[in-house]
Amino acid sequence: MAPSLVETTTEAKPVTYKLNLGQYKEIDGHGIDKEIETGKAGSSAAKYPHYLPTWKPQELDSPLQPFEHYEHGKDADTSFPNLLPAGTTVTDLTPTIGTEVRGIQLSSLSDAGKDELARFVAQRKVVAFRAQDFADLPIVDALKYGSYFGRHHVHPTSGAPEGFPEVHLVHRGENDKGADEFFKIRTSSVAWHSDVSYEAQPPGTTFLYILNKPDVGGDTLFVDAAQAYNRLSPLFQERLHGLRATHSGIEQVNAAAARGSIKRREPVVNTHPIVRTHPATGEKALYVNPQFTRDIVDLKKEESDAILKFLYDHLAYGADFQARIKWEEGTVVVWDNRVTQHSALVDWDNGQRRHLARITPQAERPYETPFQG
Ligand code: SIN
Repeated sequence: MAPSLVETTTEAKPVTYKLNLGQYKEIDGHGIDKEIETGKAGSSAAKYPHYLPTWKPQELDSPLQPFEHYEHGKDADTSFPNLLPAGTTVTDLTPTIGTEVRGIQLSSLSDAGKDELARFVAQRKVVAFRAQDFADLPIVDALKYGSYFGRHHVHPTSGAPEGFPEVHLVHRGENDKGADEFFKIRTSSVAWHSDVSYEAQPPGTTFLYILNKPDVGGDTLFVDAAQAYNRLSPLFQERLHGLRATHSGIEQVNAAAARGSIKRREPVVNTHPIVRTHPATGEKALYVNPQFTRDIVDLKKEESDAILKFLYDHLAYGADFQARIKWEEGTVVVWDNRVTQHSALVDWDNGQRRHLARITPQAERPYETPFQG
Protein backbone atom coordinates (compact mmCIF):
# COMPACT_ATOMS: atom_id res chain seq x y z
CA MET A 1 0.00 0.00 0.00
CA ALA A 2 1.31 3.45 -0.86
CA PRO A 3 2.21 5.38 2.29
CA SER A 4 -0.32 7.98 3.29
CA LEU A 5 0.66 11.61 3.51
CA VAL A 6 0.67 11.39 7.30
CA GLU A 7 3.05 8.40 7.30
CA THR A 8 5.34 10.13 4.83
CA THR A 9 5.42 13.21 6.99
CA THR A 10 6.20 11.15 10.07
CA GLU A 11 9.05 9.34 8.31
CA ALA A 12 10.45 12.58 7.03
CA LYS A 13 10.39 14.28 10.43
CA PRO A 14 13.85 13.20 11.67
CA VAL A 15 15.42 14.55 8.46
CA THR A 16 13.74 17.92 8.96
CA TYR A 17 14.91 17.92 12.59
CA LYS A 18 18.54 17.31 11.61
CA LEU A 19 18.50 19.92 8.88
CA ASN A 20 17.06 22.55 11.18
CA LEU A 21 19.78 22.04 13.77
CA GLY A 22 22.57 22.81 11.31
CA GLN A 23 25.90 22.20 13.03
CA TYR A 24 24.39 22.65 16.49
CA LYS A 25 24.95 19.51 18.56
CA GLU A 26 22.96 18.55 21.61
CA ILE A 27 22.39 15.33 23.51
CA ASP A 28 18.72 15.20 24.27
CA GLY A 29 18.12 14.79 28.00
CA HIS A 30 14.87 12.87 28.47
CA GLY A 31 13.27 15.57 30.59
CA ILE A 32 12.74 14.82 34.22
CA ASP A 33 11.06 11.84 35.81
CA LYS A 34 9.91 13.10 39.22
CA GLU A 35 9.50 9.57 40.62
CA ILE A 36 13.08 8.70 39.74
CA GLU A 37 14.63 12.04 40.70
CA THR A 38 12.93 12.05 44.09
CA GLY A 39 13.98 8.45 44.76
CA LYS A 40 10.45 7.02 44.77
CA ALA A 41 11.17 4.51 42.00
CA GLY A 42 13.82 2.61 43.95
CA SER A 43 16.41 5.04 42.58
CA SER A 44 18.75 7.35 44.48
CA ALA A 45 17.22 10.80 44.99
CA ALA A 46 18.81 13.94 43.58
CA LYS A 47 21.01 15.44 46.31
CA TYR A 48 19.65 18.95 45.76
CA PRO A 49 15.97 18.49 44.81
CA HIS A 50 15.28 22.25 44.92
CA TYR A 51 17.72 22.48 41.99
CA LEU A 52 15.78 20.04 39.80
CA PRO A 53 14.79 21.59 36.47
CA THR A 54 11.33 22.95 35.78
CA TRP A 55 10.14 24.12 32.38
CA LYS A 56 7.14 26.26 33.15
CA PRO A 57 5.06 27.07 30.08
CA GLN A 58 5.15 30.82 30.25
CA GLU A 59 4.76 34.05 28.36
CA LEU A 60 7.69 34.87 26.09
CA ASP A 61 10.17 37.18 27.80
CA SER A 62 10.92 40.40 25.95
CA PRO A 63 14.29 40.69 24.16
CA LEU A 64 17.34 41.34 26.34
CA GLN A 65 18.13 45.05 26.51
CA PRO A 66 21.63 46.55 26.36
CA PHE A 67 23.21 47.39 29.73
CA GLU A 68 26.46 48.95 30.91
CA HIS A 69 28.83 46.24 32.15
CA TYR A 70 31.40 47.10 34.82
CA GLU A 71 34.49 44.89 34.67
CA HIS A 72 35.60 44.32 38.26
CA GLY A 73 38.71 42.45 37.15
CA LYS A 74 40.22 45.85 36.27
CA ASP A 75 40.17 46.90 39.95
CA ALA A 76 41.96 43.83 41.26
CA ASP A 77 45.22 43.70 43.19
CA THR A 78 47.09 41.24 40.98
CA SER A 79 49.03 39.80 43.91
CA PHE A 80 45.61 38.40 44.97
CA PRO A 81 45.95 38.92 48.76
CA ASN A 82 42.23 38.53 49.42
CA LEU A 83 41.54 35.65 47.05
CA LEU A 84 44.65 33.59 47.73
CA PRO A 85 45.85 34.37 51.28
CA ALA A 86 48.73 32.47 52.87
CA GLY A 87 47.77 28.84 53.45
CA THR A 88 45.75 28.52 50.23
CA THR A 89 46.84 25.66 47.97
CA VAL A 90 47.08 26.78 44.34
CA THR A 91 47.97 24.18 41.71
CA ASP A 92 48.26 25.07 38.03
CA LEU A 93 46.97 22.27 35.80
CA THR A 94 48.85 23.44 32.70
CA PRO A 95 51.15 26.40 32.03
CA THR A 96 48.52 28.68 30.47
CA ILE A 97 45.08 27.36 31.39
CA GLY A 98 43.51 25.81 34.45
CA THR A 99 44.21 26.10 38.18
CA GLU A 100 42.91 24.24 41.18
CA VAL A 101 42.45 26.13 44.46
CA ARG A 102 41.89 24.62 47.89
CA GLY A 103 41.56 26.32 51.25
CA ILE A 104 39.30 29.33 50.64
CA GLN A 105 35.51 29.72 50.52
CA LEU A 106 34.27 31.72 47.54
CA SER A 107 31.12 32.59 49.49
CA SER A 108 33.22 34.45 52.11
CA LEU A 109 35.07 36.75 49.69
CA SER A 110 34.93 40.50 50.25
CA ASP A 111 34.30 42.73 47.22
CA ALA A 112 38.09 43.14 46.89
CA GLY A 113 38.33 39.34 46.84
CA LYS A 114 35.65 39.16 44.13
CA ASP A 115 37.57 41.70 42.03
CA GLU A 116 40.62 39.47 42.38
CA LEU A 117 38.53 36.42 41.49
CA ALA A 118 37.40 38.03 38.22
CA ARG A 119 41.00 38.95 37.37
CA PHE A 120 42.56 35.64 38.44
CA VAL A 121 40.02 33.71 36.38
CA ALA A 122 40.63 35.99 33.36
CA GLN A 123 44.35 35.22 33.65
CA ARG A 124 44.09 31.48 34.34
CA LYS A 125 41.00 31.08 32.10
CA VAL A 126 39.38 28.38 34.27
CA VAL A 127 39.77 27.73 37.99
CA ALA A 128 38.36 24.80 39.99
CA PHE A 129 37.65 25.80 43.59
CA ARG A 130 37.38 22.65 45.71
CA ALA A 131 35.39 21.94 48.89
CA GLN A 132 33.01 24.90 48.50
CA ASP A 133 29.74 25.49 50.34
CA PHE A 134 28.21 27.21 47.29
CA ALA A 135 25.64 24.51 46.44
CA ASP A 136 24.39 24.66 50.03
CA LEU A 137 23.67 28.39 49.95
CA PRO A 138 20.06 29.44 49.44
CA ILE A 139 19.67 29.94 45.67
CA VAL A 140 18.80 33.57 46.26
CA ASP A 141 22.19 34.12 47.97
CA ALA A 142 24.09 32.33 45.18
CA LEU A 143 22.39 34.64 42.69
CA LYS A 144 23.15 37.74 44.76
CA TYR A 145 26.80 36.68 44.78
CA GLY A 146 26.86 36.15 41.02
CA SER A 147 25.20 39.50 40.32
CA TYR A 148 28.41 41.25 41.45
CA PHE A 149 30.01 40.11 38.19
CA GLY A 150 27.30 41.27 35.78
CA ARG A 151 23.62 41.10 34.93
CA HIS A 152 22.28 37.54 35.14
CA HIS A 153 21.66 35.86 31.84
CA VAL A 154 18.37 33.99 31.57
CA HIS A 155 18.80 31.10 29.18
CA PRO A 156 16.31 30.95 26.30
CA THR A 157 15.64 27.21 26.60
CA SER A 158 17.14 25.50 29.63
CA GLY A 159 15.31 24.15 32.65
CA ALA A 160 15.63 26.18 35.84
CA PRO A 161 14.92 25.65 39.54
CA GLU A 162 11.36 26.63 40.39
CA GLY A 163 11.22 30.42 40.67
CA PHE A 164 14.83 31.05 39.55
CA PRO A 165 15.04 31.33 35.74
CA GLU A 166 18.48 32.99 36.14
CA VAL A 167 19.98 29.61 37.10
CA HIS A 168 20.91 27.48 34.08
CA LEU A 169 20.76 23.77 34.86
CA VAL A 170 22.70 20.93 33.32
CA HIS A 171 20.85 17.77 34.27
CA ARG A 172 21.07 14.19 33.07
CA GLY A 173 18.79 12.20 35.32
CA GLU A 174 19.30 8.72 36.68
CA ASN A 175 19.03 6.12 33.88
CA ASP A 176 18.49 8.80 31.23
CA LYS A 177 18.88 7.11 27.83
CA GLY A 178 19.39 10.28 25.74
CA ALA A 179 23.08 9.51 25.19
CA ASP A 180 22.27 6.02 23.78
CA GLU A 181 20.10 7.66 21.13
CA PHE A 182 22.72 10.29 20.40
CA PHE A 183 25.56 7.79 19.90
CA LYS A 184 23.51 5.90 17.31
CA ILE A 185 24.04 8.87 14.99
CA ARG A 186 27.13 10.70 16.30
CA THR A 187 30.65 9.54 17.17
CA SER A 188 31.49 11.92 20.01
CA SER A 189 29.79 14.15 22.56
CA VAL A 190 32.46 16.85 22.29
CA ALA A 191 30.80 20.15 21.36
CA TRP A 192 33.16 23.10 21.85
CA HIS A 193 31.43 26.37 22.55
CA SER A 194 31.52 29.65 24.37
CA ASP A 195 28.23 30.01 26.24
CA VAL A 196 25.40 31.81 24.42
CA SER A 197 27.82 33.68 22.14
CA TYR A 198 24.80 34.70 20.04
CA GLU A 199 23.78 37.27 22.67
CA ALA A 200 24.75 40.90 22.06
CA GLN A 201 26.52 40.89 25.45
CA PRO A 202 27.65 37.30 26.07
CA PRO A 203 28.77 36.13 29.55
CA GLY A 204 32.12 36.88 31.19
CA THR A 205 33.01 35.44 34.61
CA THR A 206 30.87 32.30 34.78
CA PHE A 207 30.18 29.90 37.67
CA LEU A 208 29.30 26.20 37.37
CA TYR A 209 28.86 24.07 40.48
CA ILE A 210 28.28 20.38 40.91
CA LEU A 211 25.20 18.98 42.62
CA ASN A 212 25.36 15.28 41.62
CA LYS A 213 28.09 13.55 39.64
CA PRO A 214 28.80 10.15 38.19
CA ASP A 215 31.54 8.27 40.07
CA VAL A 216 33.80 8.52 37.00
CA GLY A 217 33.31 10.59 33.85
CA GLY A 218 31.39 13.72 32.97
CA ASP A 219 34.53 15.89 33.09
CA THR A 220 34.54 19.28 31.37
CA LEU A 221 37.15 20.27 28.76
CA PHE A 222 38.35 23.86 28.39
CA VAL A 223 40.47 25.49 25.69
CA ASP A 224 42.47 28.70 26.09
CA ALA A 225 41.25 30.85 23.18
CA ALA A 226 43.87 33.55 23.91
CA GLN A 227 46.73 31.06 23.60
CA ALA A 228 45.04 29.70 20.45
CA TYR A 229 45.23 33.23 19.02
CA ASN A 230 48.89 33.60 20.13
CA ARG A 231 49.85 30.39 18.31
CA LEU A 232 48.79 31.78 14.92
CA SER A 233 51.34 33.43 12.66
CA PRO A 234 51.35 37.26 12.78
CA LEU A 235 50.27 37.29 9.12
CA PHE A 236 47.24 35.13 9.84
CA GLN A 237 46.40 37.02 13.04
CA GLU A 238 46.47 40.25 11.05
CA ARG A 239 44.12 38.76 8.42
CA LEU A 240 41.61 37.82 11.14
CA HIS A 241 41.55 41.32 12.62
CA GLY A 242 38.66 43.37 11.32
CA LEU A 243 36.60 40.27 10.44
CA ARG A 244 33.26 39.74 12.12
CA ALA A 245 31.27 36.51 12.41
CA THR A 246 27.57 35.80 12.79
CA HIS A 247 26.45 33.93 15.93
CA SER A 248 22.98 32.37 15.96
CA GLY A 249 20.69 31.24 18.79
CA ILE A 250 18.11 29.87 16.33
CA GLU A 251 19.29 26.27 16.19
CA GLN A 252 19.37 25.93 20.00
CA VAL A 253 15.75 27.06 20.13
CA ASN A 254 14.91 24.65 17.28
CA ALA A 255 16.55 21.80 19.23
CA ALA A 256 14.41 22.67 22.26
CA ALA A 257 11.29 22.73 20.05
CA ALA A 258 12.23 19.35 18.55
CA ARG A 259 12.28 17.76 22.01
CA GLY A 260 9.03 19.51 22.99
CA SER A 261 10.72 21.90 25.39
CA ILE A 262 10.25 25.61 26.05
CA LYS A 263 11.40 28.85 24.45
CA ARG A 264 11.68 31.80 26.81
CA ARG A 265 12.66 34.39 24.19
CA GLU A 266 12.73 34.70 20.45
CA PRO A 267 16.21 33.62 19.29
CA VAL A 268 18.69 36.31 18.30
CA VAL A 269 21.53 36.54 15.80
CA ASN A 270 24.44 38.92 16.45
CA THR A 271 27.80 39.58 14.85
CA HIS A 272 30.99 39.77 16.92
CA PRO A 273 34.66 40.33 16.04
CA ILE A 274 36.56 37.10 15.37
CA VAL A 275 39.35 38.38 17.61
CA ARG A 276 38.08 39.98 20.82
CA THR A 277 40.02 41.78 23.53
CA HIS A 278 39.62 41.11 27.22
CA PRO A 279 38.80 44.34 29.07
CA ALA A 280 40.94 43.59 32.16
CA THR A 281 43.98 41.76 30.78
CA GLY A 282 44.05 43.28 27.27
CA GLU A 283 44.58 39.75 25.90
CA LYS A 284 43.24 38.95 22.45
CA ALA A 285 41.31 35.72 21.96
CA LEU A 286 39.62 33.83 19.14
CA TYR A 287 35.87 34.22 19.41
CA VAL A 288 34.23 31.74 17.04
CA ASN A 289 32.76 28.36 18.02
CA PRO A 290 31.09 25.57 16.05
CA GLN A 291 27.93 25.50 18.16
CA PHE A 292 26.81 29.07 17.53
CA THR A 293 28.99 30.75 14.89
CA ARG A 294 27.56 30.49 11.39
CA ASP A 295 29.62 32.53 8.93
CA ILE A 296 32.09 35.34 8.45
CA VAL A 297 30.50 38.57 7.37
CA ASP A 298 31.22 39.66 3.77
CA LEU A 299 33.14 36.51 2.78
CA LYS A 300 31.80 34.04 0.23
CA LYS A 301 30.48 30.78 1.71
CA GLU A 302 33.48 28.64 0.69
CA GLU A 303 35.93 31.24 2.04
CA SER A 304 34.03 31.57 5.30
CA ASP A 305 33.63 27.79 5.74
CA ALA A 306 37.34 27.18 5.14
CA ILE A 307 38.52 29.77 7.67
CA LEU A 308 35.99 28.75 10.31
CA LYS A 309 36.84 25.06 9.88
CA PHE A 310 40.52 25.86 10.32
CA LEU A 311 39.83 27.86 13.49
CA TYR A 312 37.53 25.21 14.97
CA ASP A 313 40.10 22.48 14.27
CA HIS A 314 42.90 24.63 15.69
CA LEU A 315 40.95 25.11 18.95
CA ALA A 316 39.76 21.48 19.15
CA TYR A 317 43.13 19.85 18.41
CA GLY A 318 45.12 22.21 20.63
CA ALA A 319 45.56 19.80 23.53
CA ASP A 320 48.66 21.82 24.39
CA PHE A 321 46.45 24.77 25.35
CA GLN A 322 43.57 22.87 26.91
CA ALA A 323 42.70 21.70 30.44
CA ARG A 324 40.38 18.98 31.65
CA ILE A 325 38.49 19.61 34.87
CA LYS A 326 37.47 16.62 36.95
CA TRP A 327 34.54 17.27 39.22
CA GLU A 328 34.68 16.49 42.93
CA GLU A 329 31.84 17.00 45.36
CA GLY A 330 31.80 20.66 46.41
CA THR A 331 33.60 21.92 43.29
CA VAL A 332 32.77 25.32 41.83
CA VAL A 333 34.41 25.91 38.46
CA VAL A 334 34.77 29.54 37.43
CA TRP A 335 35.80 30.40 33.88
CA ASP A 336 36.04 33.47 31.73
CA ASN A 337 33.70 32.84 28.83
CA ARG A 338 35.36 35.61 26.76
CA VAL A 339 38.71 33.85 26.48
CA THR A 340 37.79 30.16 26.68
CA GLN A 341 35.60 27.56 25.11
CA HIS A 342 34.44 24.38 26.80
CA SER A 343 32.70 21.08 26.24
CA ALA A 344 30.99 18.71 28.63
CA LEU A 345 31.87 15.05 28.12
CA VAL A 346 29.10 12.47 28.09
CA ASP A 347 31.29 9.40 28.50
CA TRP A 348 29.68 7.43 31.34
CA ASP A 349 27.02 4.84 30.66
CA ASN A 350 26.13 3.41 34.06
CA GLY A 351 22.99 5.55 34.37
CA GLN A 352 24.33 7.77 37.15
CA ARG A 353 22.93 11.27 37.52
CA ARG A 354 24.92 14.38 36.47
CA HIS A 355 23.44 17.62 37.77
CA LEU A 356 25.06 21.07 37.78
CA ALA A 357 23.95 24.67 38.16
CA ARG A 358 25.39 27.59 36.23
CA ILE A 359 25.30 31.27 37.14
CA THR A 360 26.08 33.22 34.02
CA PRO A 361 26.65 36.98 34.45
CA GLN A 362 26.69 38.84 31.13
CA ALA A 363 29.58 41.12 30.24
CA GLU A 364 30.46 43.81 27.69
CA ARG A 365 29.66 43.68 24.01
CA PRO A 366 32.71 41.98 22.42
CA TYR A 367 35.14 44.48 20.91
CA GLU A 368 38.51 44.26 19.25
CA THR A 369 41.62 46.38 19.55
CA PRO A 370 44.07 46.85 16.65
CA PHE A 371 46.54 44.17 15.58
CA GLN A 372 49.91 44.83 17.19
CA GLY A 373 52.21 42.49 15.34
C1 SIN B 1 28.09 24.30 29.95
O1 SIN B 1 28.20 24.10 28.73
O2 SIN B 1 28.02 25.43 30.41
C2 SIN B 1 28.08 23.11 30.90
C3 SIN B 1 29.33 22.33 30.86
C4 SIN B 1 29.21 21.00 31.55
O3 SIN B 1 28.11 20.44 31.66
O4 SIN B 1 30.23 20.45 31.96
